[in-house]
Amino acid sequence: MAMAIAMVPQPLLTLFLFFSLLSIANSSPSQHLQIANAERRIDLTSHIIKVYLTLKVENLGTSPASEVHIAFSPTEVEHLAIVKAAATSGKRKKKTYVPLDVKSAELPDGPNGTKFFSITLLTPLSKGETTTLEVLYILTHSLEPFPVEISQSESQLVYFRDSAILLSPYHVKQQTTFIKTPSTRVESFTVVDPTKRAGTELKYGPYENHPPYSYSPVLIHFENNNAFAVVEELEREIEISHWGSIQVTEQYSLVHAGARHKGVFSRVEYQTKPGGTGVSSFKHLLAKLPPRVHSVYYRDGIGNISSSHLRTDSWKSELEIEPRYPLFGGWKSTFVIGYGLPLQDFLFESPDGRRYLNFTFGCPLVETVVDKLIVKVVLPEGSKDPTVEIPFEVKQHLEIKYSYLDVVGRTVVVLEKRNAVPEHNAPFQVFTKPNVKK
Ligand SMILES: *[C@@H]1O[C@H](CO)[C@@H](O)[C@H](O)[C@H]1NC(C)=O
Ligand SMILES: *[C@@H]1O[C@H](CO)[C@@H](O)[C@H](O)[C@H]1NC(C)=O
Ligand SMILES: *[C@@H]1O[C@H](CO)[C@@H](O)[C@H](O)[C@H]1NC(C)=O
Repeated sequence: MAMAIAMVPQPLLTLFLFFSLLSIANSSPSQHLQIANAERRIDLTSHIIKVYLTLKVENLGTSPASEVHIAFSPTEVEHLAIVKAAATSGKRKKKTYVPLDVKSAELPDGPNGTKFFSITLLTPLSKGETTTLEVLYILTHSLEPFPVEISQSESQLVYFRDSAILLSPYHVKQQTTFIKTPSTRVESFTVVDPTKRAGTELKYGPYENHPPYSYSPVLIHFENNNAFAVVEELEREIEISHWGSIQVTEQYSLVHAGARHKGVFSRVEYQTKPGGTGVSSFKHLLAKLPPRVHSVYYRDGIGNISSSHLRTDSWKSELEIEPRYPLFGGWKSTFVIGYGLPLQDFLFESPDGRRYLNFTFGCPLVETVVDKLIVKVVLPEGSKDPTVEIPFEVKQHLEIKYSYLDVVGRTVVVLEKRNAVPEHNAPFQVFTKPNVKK
């Protein structure tokens, strides 16, 4: 096949490709839609990148459109943690949001490697109609430290790559991108006229009339000293005990994923010049736990660490922990946090008589990425056929756990998710058959 194409004279080949693309495009529903206006706000203040996209979509076709597609480059897809969309109406304070279904989709006419998600509209968009969508997507591991190694006294600089022009399967009439940096220190940035920089904001555009799949790479080099806290693996075990309590055990292996630390670590310098040295390192970690926690402990391989503070009120508990040493780029720390919770706060009965656990998924540590998250729910003895409800895709399987004095073992629901971000800290439920006793 490749041979046959290779023998076609070059101009003819181009024309042939052009026509075949055109015919595919004509048959795809995307041809009827146009983005009247796109506004993108990229927040680079953390190591977790949040992108807020507002799309004003117009139907120029003759038939109603029920779906709107958004496109991602192959690199983005690799680092994409979550995509959410909502339909908005009204202005400013009176704005209303209705969450919309987002699922991965295929379109025949995208450039090689482009991935699509389709947003299902509440009501199909009729000919000539316009609707406004708000999309939030989150990227992890997308800031590349440069230099890759820094000493204790240096600030951390990173690269961010994107396109000044929104990658879209539709014609985009007008668009602007705003990029927010953590500080005013921006070493360099690609200029795609018009490009403006003021304080901590970089503005690309407005640009007019870009055909589908336009792309214009930009590279931004800037300072980011925020805690690049990445949990390479977190295993949370939520054990429902027979005695009216829930015991949670969380095993963390944390790494500072920023620029690698170079040279020796001077504790003296670190302690005498606070704020002036080790600016990209971190010393404290904050875990948000449910209200009414008790028996909290924090330990590592050496033993219990006493430097933790627990603050609780009726809404939440905050546990501030301090590893034995501050974490610099490339340094790791493994530790365990454990706590007890009152069962009645999490175990309920559904209208159809089934008992269920309602607990929070995700990672209690604030502003962290979890490369691999495993959540295990150990059900009381005798519980069978559990079913899980969770608002996003996770891998699931069952295990049996035998502990001291257990004869039959207990069913364990195992949920696994890659690339988890704080937006995954959402409630999930595990339902069991009615015979389960509290
Ligand atoms: C598409 O990309 C893949 C992987 O990068 C490559 O192997 C393949 O040859 C590309 N196909 C075309 C038509 O460019
Ligand atoms: C560590 O703390 C836990 C919970 O407070 C306690 O049960 C355990 O005995 C402590 N271990 C050591 C070695 O101090
Ligand atoms: C689960 O708990 C959350 C609050 O943490 C609550 O908003 C939600 O309605 C509960 N879901 C169910 C099914 O009980």
